[in-house]
Amino acid sequence: MSHYKPDHIISNGERFRVWLTEEEIRERTAEIGRELGRQFEGRRPIFIGVLNGAFIFLSDLMRHTPIPCEVDFIKLSSYGDEKVSSGQVTELKEIHADLAGRDVILVEDIVDTGLSISFLADKLSAMNPESLTLVTLLHKVSATTHPVTLDHVGFEIPDRFVLGYGLDYSQEGRNLAQIYIQEDA
Ligand code: IMP
Repeated sequence: MSHYKPDHIISNGERFRVWLTEEEIRERTAEIGRELGRQFEGRRPIFIGVLNGAFIFLSDLMRHTPIPCEVDFIKLSSYGDEKVSSGQVTELKEIHADLAGRDVILVEDIVDTGLSISFLADKLSAMNPESLTLVTLLHKVSATTHPVTLDHVGFEIPDRFVLGYGLDYSQEGRNLAQIYIQEDA
C-alpha cells in the first residue's frame, strides 16, 4: 500500500515537518485499543467519533479494540477554516443512537482549548449513559483552558498547529499518514 507521507509538507503557504510517524501512531493506537478492550470486557460500548478530524483515528482505534462495539458520529464547528478557535461551538450533526444506559467512548482527534470536548462531555452526560470515557489522540496541554479529565491520551504535544492523520489545515492534509507540526516562522 502506498501511503502519503512526505518528510515535509507545505500547507496554505506554511511549512510543516513530521512530528509523529505512522508506526508511533499505530503502536499507541493499538495500546489504547487493548486498554479499552480490557476496560469494557463483556460489555458492548459505543464509540462516538467527532467529525471530521477523528475519522481516521477512530477507524484504527475501533479495529484495535478486540470486543464487540458500535459507532456513531457527531459533528461540531468551532474553527471554521481558521487556525484559531472562534471560541464558540455549534452542533452540525447530531447523534442518532440512544445512549441511555450505554458505555460511551467519545473519540476526539485533538484537545486544544478543551472547549469542544467539555461541551461534548456535558452533552453526552445529559443523555444518561452508564459510563462516559474520553479519548483523544493528541492533547495540547499548555493550551487547555477548559479543564476536563481525559481518560486516554495518545500523545501530549506542544501548543503548535499540527495536521495529518485526519487533522486538517483549511481542509488540507487529512490523508497524510503521519502527523506534522508547524515549523518556526
Ligand atoms: P478545542 O475546542 O479548542 O479543544 O479544539 C478542538 C478542535 O479544534 C479539534 O477537534 C480540531 O478540529 C481543532 N484543532 C485544534 N488544534 C488543531 C490543530 O493543531 N490542527 C488541526 N485542528 C486543530
